Amino acid sequence: MEEIKLGMVGLGTVGSGVLEMVQKHAAKISAVTGRKLALKTVVVRNLAKHAAVAQQVHLTTDLNEILTDPEIQIVVEVMGGIHPAKEVITQLLTAHKHVVTANKDLIATEGAKLIELARANHCDLLYEASVAGGIPILRTIADSFAADQITEVKGIVNGTTNYILTQMAQQHWSYEQALQKAQELGFAEADPTNDVKGKDAAYKMVILSQFSFGTRVPVAAVATEGIDQVAAQDVAQAAAFGYTIKLVGVARLAGDGLFVEVAPALVNRHHPLAEVNNENNAVMVRGQAVGDTLFYGPGAGGLPTANSVLSDITTVMKNMILKTNGNSFNRYSKQLALAESAA
Ligand code: HSE
Repeated sequence: MEEIKLGMVGLGTVGSGVLEMVQKHAAKISAVTGRKLALKTVVVRNLAKHAAVAQQVHLTTDLNEILTDPEIQIVVEVMGGIHPAKEVITQLLTAHKHVVTANKDLIATEGAKLIELARANHCDLLYEASVAGGIPILRTIADSFAADQITEVKGIVNGTTNYILTQMAQQHWSYEQALQKAQELGFAEADPTNDVKGKDAAYKMVILSQFSFGTRVPVAAVATEGIDQVAAQDVAQAAAFGYTIKLVGVARLAGDGLFVEVAPALVNRHHPLAEVNNENNAVMVRGQAVGDTLFYGPGAGGLPTANSVLSDITTVMKNMILKTNGNSFNRYSKQLALAESAA
């Protein structure tokens, strides 16, 4: 059986999850793709920090080892942030590597250019893990709503803030106490500012809008408010009136335009979103034909997010087989075409 070699840039929470899944789920991956998958090289910033992993996979600090290795055809980018991830992905695509990323900051801000670069180099650039961690929401919107007109997509798309708000409501913890715990559990970004200020959720709503409406919404156009001003007292008062406070993202058709917002909202305790607790996320998609649908699952964390990364890797592997047979199907092409016709 042919073996596909994988490279990876970054070895944090999600990268470690990818390593674990490639090893533990090797048989399943081979069964669904007809190819073996092997992680060959991982680029890290600090070799000493990952000494234990060096027994299992080749570690380097030099991206050139991946760029110049003809055996490595697919590369996972899980370093996060916009720079130098943008430069890294640009180099990878230019070197004709397929790229799978979890990087919502980058895709929301520079995605259009990178998708174009991928297309010019006949490569896949896939990013299921960038929105709602372990919930397969992008492929669901692209595939299962292919013929329906989505009119609204809304939900809880940041695990860290949902964890914080849940602990404030259920354990009566302070905001600071809950944030520290979220960081310890690995849900929060290295710098949690984007989580608590709502920017991480805004990035995800931009990507969801691209998939749902074929529209590239600039991040600056998303009205964004975080949870850093929500006090324990606000949470307690909301509960006394039968509400729970959640950070909710909404993107909805409004006349000829689109309204996109992220803000703390009072959610009635009987609404399904009120039941979404801890690091879990939920996305409600309203289609003209299908009506309301709800997708729920872990929105952050190593293995759930790694599962979304692996779903993209297996898609790339299947596409590689289609291409060798003279066919290809990229489910993101529809969204790109729509976004271009709307631009
Ligand atoms: N910090 C992000 C969150 C990680 O808490 O949702 C997953 O994107």
